[in-house]
Amino acid sequence: MKLLTLGTLFLSASAVNSFAVDSKIMPGAEVIPASDTHRLKNIGACHPKHHDRRTVTIRHSRHKNDDVSEDFLWGIKKANHGGRLLLKKHHTYVIGKKLDLTFLNDIEVQLDGELKFTDDIEYWQKNNFYYDFQKSITFWRWGGKDIKIFGNGLLNGNGQRWYNEFAGMEILDPDNTFYRPILFLTENATRVSVEGITQLNSPCWTNFFVQSKDVSFDDVFINAFSTNASAEPKNTDGFDSFNVDGLRVTNTRVDVGDDCFAPKPNTTNMFVQNLWCNNTHGVSMGSIGQYPGVMDIIEHAYIENVTLLNGQNGARLKAWAGQDVGYGRINNITYKNIHIKNTDHPVVLDQCYFDIEAAECAKRPSQVNVTNIVFENISGTSSGKNGKVVADLTCSPNAVCSNIHLEDINLTSPAGSPPVIVCDGIQGDIGVECQSSEDSQNKRAFDHPEGI
Ligand SMILES: *[C@@H]1O[C@H](CO)[C@@H](O)[C@H](O)[C@H]1NC(C)=O
Ligand SMILES: *[C@@H]1O[C@H](CO)[C@@H](O)[C@H](O)[C@H]1NC(C)=O
Ligand SMILES: *[C@@H]1O[C@H](CO)[C@@H](O)[C@H](O)[C@H]1NC(C)=O
Ligand SMILES: *[C@@H]1O[C@H](CO)[C@@H](O)[C@H](O)[C@H]1NC(C)=O
Ligand SMILES: *[C@@H]1O[C@H](CO)[C@@H](O)[C@H](O)[C@H]1NC(C)=O
Ligand SMILES: *[C@@H]1O[C@H](CO)[C@@H](O)[C@H](O)[C@H]1NC(C)=O
Ligand SMILES: *[C@@H]1O[C@H](CO)[C@@H](O)[C@H](O)[C@H]1NC(C)=O
Ligand SMILES: *[C@@H]1O[C@H](CO)[C@@H](O)[C@H](O)[C@H]1NC(C)=O
Ligand SMILES: *[C@@H]1O[C@H](CO)[C@@H](O)[C@H](O)[C@H]1NC(C)=O
Repeated sequence: MKLLTLGTLFLSASAVNSFAVDSKIMPGAEVIPASDTHRLKNIGACHPKHHDRRTVTIRHSRHKNDDVSEDFLWGIKKANHGGRLLLKKHHTYVIGKKLDLTFLNDIEVQLDGELKFTDDIEYWQKNNFYYDFQKSITFWRWGGKDIKIFGNGLLNGNGQRWYNEFAGMEILDPDNTFYRPILFLTENATRVSVEGITQLNSPCWTNFFVQSKDVSFDDVFINAFSTNASAEPKNTDGFDSFNVDGLRVTNTRVDVGDDCFAPKPNTTNMFVQNLWCNNTHGVSMGSIGQYPGVMDIIEHAYIENVTLLNGQNGARLKAWAGQDVGYGRINNITYKNIHIKNTDHPVVLDQCYFDIEAAECAKRPSQVNVTNIVFENISGTSSGKNGKVVADLTCSPNAVCSNIHLEDINLTSPAGSPPVIVCDGIQGDIGVECQSSEDSQNKRAFDHPEGI
């Protein structure tokens, strides 16, 4: 036992990625052939939906700083090409080194236990994978093809210390250098599925897919909370994407304090069904069109049966306007059967993002076309924070914002009735009665002379 411990200590002094996989078995690990069904059953590797496979197990952590990242990387390599890595129920596996997992080809990871990152901020801020897009970093990256992660275990970002130390800072502040890791990231990945697990307390975005194809999440619970009232989780979005074709999210719950589902530039063919979002900034297409000279596209999304509670936004589309912005299109997006409660802005189309004045938006309209959008069967209540306005559709005058259709809208506001739908700058009829923001401002001022 003593010798094994020494060996582990010695190994962790060298970089994880240089660890050589050989035919030897890592101390505490086991490789079980698919034919040994008895043993597989014994260790909990049988799964109702996934056939038995050659299964690899690794030692688990003995305490919160017992870093098993070398064992984990070894296990991933052993399980690659047709096998499975099993992380057992009731055990915790601590990851304290960055991991490059971009060599995968046909692998399953059965996560029944807990996979937890250290909160060694000093280490992670020096050792991570960095992306220019919104200065994102991550603990690890997953790439390759045919990657399946399933089980009823926990992927734990251990974010509390990150929340405490980031308190008071802003991600969009150009001077900010306090970067926080993303919990799960794929890059150059094709056919990734994640099923059944819980993703807890990511330091920053929970999921980010980069340059990937056919990513799906089913029956996942994403949660971020703080035990420190003066340091809430920030920017812990459920789903973000960049250059992704094919993204499915079904039967999933998200309770995070920021975006629930928010595809970013160049995301196409999305399918979202039976999604529940609590305390979020909503299901948002974009923002896109932020960077000068860059074309961004968000296209072909079908979003159905979403419940949005206690949020800032419900169903939202947003594109930048003003000086030095980009161009592109948000096209062919359907929001259907959406139930919204206690939410500040239940339905939002904002083509004058980020917060620019009407005059400026008219002078420098968005160059992101917003076309072929359907909002159908949207019900519920706003929080009343935006007065009687329950839907706010603001397009840049003279920019292309067309074929926007609303149907079966039953949204009310606790601030009074009748509820108001604002529409500015949209070409053609939108299917429901609506008024310009100026009228609704006047009306609100008249109804509530003291202001809201
Ligand atoms: C809670 O967060 C605040 C703000 O960063 C910090 O000053 C304080 O130490 C934290 N409290 C605990 C118990 O960590
Ligand atoms: C992903 O693919 C691109 C283009 O082939 C390449 O430049 C990049 O290095 C790859 N990223 C990784 C993490 O392998
Ligand atoms: C809608 O989604 C909820 C989960 O948010 C689920 O319980 C319900 O069964 C779904 N409804 C339909 C018709 O599938
Ligand atoms: C949703 O969030 C509220 C806080 O805004 C919380 O009180 C409630 O328990 C959450 N609902 C569920 C089902 O977790
Ligand atoms: C999005 O795709 C377009 C065309 O395929 C490309 O020109 C553009 O650079 C991409 N945008 C980003 C942000 O990668
Ligand atoms: C619109 O998107 C849906 C997927 O949500 C797709 O099936 C359909 O073909 C798209 N329509 C057009 C005209 O591209
Ligand atoms: C936006 O619409 C204009 C006018 O129809 C069109 O010329 C332009 O190509 C569209 N831009 C994109 C990125 O689709
Ligand atoms: C409208 O959406 C709600 C969910 O918000 C659903 O229960 C209801 O069946 C839908 N109505 C129709 C006509 O599809
Ligand atoms: C609108 O929703 C309320 C409950 O929020 C319901 O009582 C009412 O019947 C609905 N109206 C229509 C036309 O569906």
